Order: sequence, then structure tokens, then C-alpha cells
Amino acid sequence: MSNINKPGSFGSSRGISKKPKKDNTRKPSSTRWIGRQLNDPYVLETQKRGYKSRAAFKLLQINEKHNFLKSGLAVIDLGCAPGGWLQIASQKVCSVNGKEKVVGVDLLPTEDIPGCISIVGDILDQSVGKNLIQILGCRPNIVISDMAANTTGHRQTDHIRTTYLLESALDFAIENLQKNGVFLAKCFKGGAEIEALSLMRKYFAKVSHIKPDASRKESVEGYVIALGFKEL
Ligand SMILES: C[S@@+](CC[C@H](N)C(=O)[O-])C[C@H]1O[C@@H](n2cnc3c(N)ncnc32)[C@H](O)[C@@H]1O
Repeated sequence: MSNINKPGSFGSSRGISKKPKKDNTRKPSSTRWIGRQLNDPYVLETQKRGYKSRAAFKLLQINEKHNFLKSGLAVIDLGCAPGGWLQIASQKVCSVNGKEKVVGVDLLPTEDIPGCISIVGDILDQSVGKNLIQILGCRPNIVISDMAANTTGHRQTDHIRTTYLLESALDFAIENLQKNGVFLAKCFKGGAEIEALSLMRKYFAKVSHIKPDASRKESVEGYVIALGFKEL
């Protein structure tokens, strides 16, 4: 993998570990989170490049491997806030004749991002899916989903809730993708995702798991990418 989508050598990678300021009122989990942020080279690089989120690097790295975001293609981004994936997708596909080819949805509002349209909505609501297609003006070539449920800390519960979002994103993709389309989604391994994976194998020519470098090693987070949508 080239270095362009990886942060340079600084901060913790030089062995200098920054520590959060002492605050006895803070929970230990918050202190650990701040410590991770201070020592995470992707966090600094996110700010430097003006990305809306650190997640932007995950999409950059997945695309570097699979090269699926191409000029002229139409993209729908499920769970798009705060907008890192929208930024990368719009840079890669570009708007055609001034018409946005990237449309996103999230439960939370997303700040305006050039080349994209985003709406607030719940993808579990069927009418939201129809609205996305209407705004895009065509069926998508690519559906990407970084959707995650709020974590409870209970591993199995979090796995099941995120898998439900994966299944909902997959249903949307199967219903709407153009032939040869691509589906990329966050996927927590843990057992419940097996059914969704076998559905992907049925509808797509190739299905692969990927854990980009920007996805924290200690996290159960991973991604699944399905290429070559077959209209059955
Ligand atoms: C990890 S964040 C996405 C980050 C985004 N890819 C980026 O690059 O900035 C996951 C998002 O999924 C959204 N989400 C969860 N359930 C959803 C649902 N049912 N419909 C729409 N969005 C949902 C959350 O609100 C959250 O903003």
C-alpha cells in the first residue's frame, strides 16, 4: 500500500507517547479514549487534510485495494455523518454536468459537502430508501454503508445490532444496485453475519473481507466488499 493514504511518521510512531491531562472527575474509559486520540496519527492527519472524520482513511484504503470508486459512477452512502466517506466518494466519482452523483443519509445531520447531497433519515424506513433513489436520479452503481449502532459495551448485543444494519443495507443494495454494482459495508465478525454473507455470495460475483489499516487493531470492526452485482 502506498503512503499517500497513510499518515506520515510523527507522534506515537516516533515513540513519543502523549498523556491526557489529569482530571479526577473523568471516567477511566474517557481518559483511555483521550489517550488514544492524542496518540493516533490518523486523528492528526484527519485535521490536516480537513476530513470530517478519521473514517475517511478507511474508505481511501479500501478503495486503494479494490479501486471501485470511479469517475461518473453514482454512489449512495448509508450512515454518512459526519461525512468523511462522502468527501472521499465525491472526490473520486466527481459530479457529472454539475449533478451530484453522491447521496448520503444518516440519523444525524451532516454538514454540507461539495459534490454531495445528504439527508436526515433512518434507512430502516422504506420511504427513506425511495427518497435516496429519487434524489440521486438513477439506481446507484455503488452502495457503501459504515452504519453502526451505538455500542452498549456488551459484545454480542453490539454485534447483533450492527449486523441488523448490515442486513438492512444489503437489502437496500440488492433492491437498487445497477448490474455489476458494488456493495461495501461495515461488518462485525461474531456469527450473526453469516446469513448476510451467504446472500452476498449469491448476488455478487466476489465477496471479500477487509480490515483497513485505519481500523483500530483492537476493534472487532471490519468491512465486507461485494463486487459484480448480478441481477437474479
Ligand atoms: C461510524 S459513523 C459513519 C461515519 C462516516 N462513514 C464518515 O465517514 O464520517 C456511523 C453512522 O451510522 C449512523 N446510523 C446508524 N443507524 C442508522 C440508520 N438506521 N439509518 C441511518 N444512519 C444510521 C449513525 O448515526 C452514525 O452517524
